[in-house]
Amino acid sequence: EKGGHDYFMLKEIAEQPQAVADTLRSRLREDGGVDLDLGDLDLRDVEKVVIVACGTAYHSAMVAKYAIEQWARIPCEAELASEFRYRDPILDRSTLVIAISQSGETMDTLMALRHARAQGARVLAICNTNGSTIARESDAVVYTHGGPEIAVASTKAFLTQLAACYLVALQLAPAADPAAARRLLAVPSQLAGLLETMDPVRKLARDLASAPQVLFIGRHVGFPVALEGALKLKELAYMHAEGFAAGELKHGPIALIDDATPVICVLPSPGGVLHDKVVSNIQEVRARGARTIVIAEDGDDSARPYADDLITVPPTEPLLAPLLTTVPLQILACEIAAARGHDVDQPRNLAKSVTVE
Ligand code: M6R
Repeated sequence: EKGGHDYFMLKEIAEQPQAVADTLRSRLREDGGVDLDLGDLDLRDVEKVVIVACGTAYHSAMVAKYAIEQWARIPCEAELASEFRYRDPILDRSTLVIAISQSGETMDTLMALRHARAQGARVLAICNTNGSTIARESDAVVYTHGGPEIAVASTKAFLTQLAACYLVALQLAPAADPAAARRLLAVPSQLAGLLETMDPVRKLARDLASAPQVLFIGRHVGFPVALEGALKLKELAYMHAEGFAAGELKHGPIALIDDATPVICVLPSPGGVLHDKVVSNIQEVRARGARTIVIAEDGDDSARPYADDLITVPPTEPLLAPLLTTVPLQILACEIAAARGHDVDQPRNLAKSVTVE
């Protein structure tokens, strides 16, 4: 049932190329055309987008914010559903609220959705589970088509949520973007290639298994990837792990750095201004004794002099990078948890679907 893998989590990580292809199938064309079959939900005249979600799904919401702002030029906020539902947000018909949930049964996300509907907002679900409560109570659903996810830690659900969010962002954009569409359509085969290169990550996991804590830094869409890497490590390895926006290091977190602390650095795509800033951050943490593990694009050697370990992923459009940079962090968390003797698929204190507050 685990398809030859030791854990459901590894099986589901391996299924990601297919899962992302299934999310995109018949919805995105090479010319940039998007067809999401939203029924009566009208996406014209949306003036604001608010995305509500929990846990890993919240990290996909954070990535979606960058994509919707950049491609669609619509103001967008990503909100923790558990906070949003108890606030008094300003919403009306011109607001599109997107609820992201693998299970479609997460209580806080469902309540956030109901809160939004009651105030007249349009509601779109991005969901993996057909006929789930969140899907039923939304005006339209973009199913992620990721297939069943058994492991408590979300992996393929995350990547398929990201893919669905990119589709929604492209759909909201005023004009088709064939270049972005082609890069997105290329991701499934890039993922398949990437998964073949993960042996050094498994070896690294054995080295990191005894670290007292692990820190993750990233910027732009690499920031939610850093948060996701840290969440995976917390829930599976029961280690202290934190993700930071690299620009915030100097405002406090750099005090945590010492020579026993590995820092996993998600380097933005080369060419942009943030790339060089994160290279500087990598130098800074290394100068304070940290072991630096850098996730960079293939061919980007700029951080090599400051990287104790360099893990590379295939190049893509900067906004799409989380579809690739997340994968080594998933494998790292899984293998560290296994090395520490934990039940990877069923971590302590956690349930797959959080249907209570
Ligand atoms: O089913 P949902 O997507 O609504 O679940 C949200 C979170 O509970 C979930 O992503 C959780 O954070 C995962 N265990 C993380 O791996």
